[in-house]
Amino acid sequence: MLLQTKNQLCKERRRLSIEKKPIIFAIETSCDETAVSILKGHNELLSNLVVSQIDIHKDFGGVVPEIAARKHVEFLYQLSLKAFEEAQIEPTQLNAIAVSYGPGLIGSLLIGTSFAKGMSISLNIPLIGVNHLVGHIYANFLDFPELKPPFVTLLVSGGHTMILLVKDYFDFEIIGETRDDAAGEAFDKVARILNLEYPGGPIIDQIAKSGKSIYKFPKPLYNVGYDFSFSGLKTAVLYFVKDSRKAKIEDIAASFQEAIIDTLVHKVTKYALKSGIKDVVIAGGVASNSLLRKKLNTYRDELNIYYPQLKYCTDNAAMIARAAYEKYQRNMFDDLDLDVEPNLGLSKV
Ligand code: KG4
Ligand code: ZN
Repeated sequence: MLLQTKNQLCKERRRLSIEKKPIIFAIETSCDETAVSILKGHNELLSNLVVSQIDIHKDFGGVVPEIAARKHVEFLYQLSLKAFEEAQIEPTQLNAIAVSYGPGLIGSLLIGTSFAKGMSISLNIPLIGVNHLVGHIYANFLDFPELKPPFVTLLVSGGHTMILLVKDYFDFEIIGETRDDAAGEAFDKVARILNLEYPGGPIIDQIAKSGKSIYKFPKPLYNVGYDFSFSGLKTAVLYFVKDSRKAKIEDIAASFQEAIIDTLVHKVTKYALKSGIKDVVIAGGVASNSLLRKKLNTYRDELNIYYPQLKYCTDNAAMIARAAYEKYQRNMFDDLDLDVEPNLGLSKV
């Protein structure tokens, strides 16, 4: 009964609040980054703050879900106050609250969504649940306002690796995806094998620069369709490291990176060229990878390659705000019974 009344209130709020240049407060707490952002209209970023918990989790070699959730509780309120201060606006000026509701760690998602619901009720403004994956893709709109669907996307993060056809703003077709490890996960696991810190992607990227790609690691499914498989590559590195103790870590990193990046670039460009859709968008944490960017740049004569600034590749709330802006324009609001969805795919936006 109480829920019904609250949902009714949400519907009332929707009717009242459609602005051309809404001010949206966005929250991202799906994993180990606590992030908030305030976006006005489609690209005036008034504040964009991220507290990374990496230093806390790296002693454990990966994210500890319970610690991540507790740290979100500790950081979120203070970070929000700081965002209002930086943006020079009052909470009463907001038009909507956006929050990523999945995929991610359940405890972490619950902290963000509970906080967002509290703000939505107390400020009497609409709530917009954002799919974290859509956020990663839409990070590109922050820098490229001219970009419009249809376009091809390579979404490469710690939890996902997909080639997508973005047919329209909220219409995604999965062309290929990983059958086992995600690309970021493969970077992190190989880094662990090499005794490097978590997260491994940026470190491998860095040390590979002083190495040579002289070892031929497998490129699973390279010539087979658009799906990926990286767990065999990771195992190949594991056995190589056990057998070849004299190999330089920089060369192993460079060789592994070459194998994985070659596969990603080969498949996404093959699909884009075959489909005739020239706009290719890269998204997610692995989109920061320097070799990925370098190799994709070699296709610039045939394709238009887009990737976000580094700060919008890894988890951030600006991307959540930007995706929420598109939902706001289409009246796509949520009720207070918005649930977290740790395994959310792209069938729901
Ligand atoms: O998108 P993200 O911040 O979080 C998820 O939604 O998963 O991605 C994090 C992943 C980690 O696996 C990290 O190692 C990887 O992105 N990553 C990189 C680089 N920077 C971050 N992988 C390769 N090269 C990089 N420069
Ligand atoms: Zn992410």
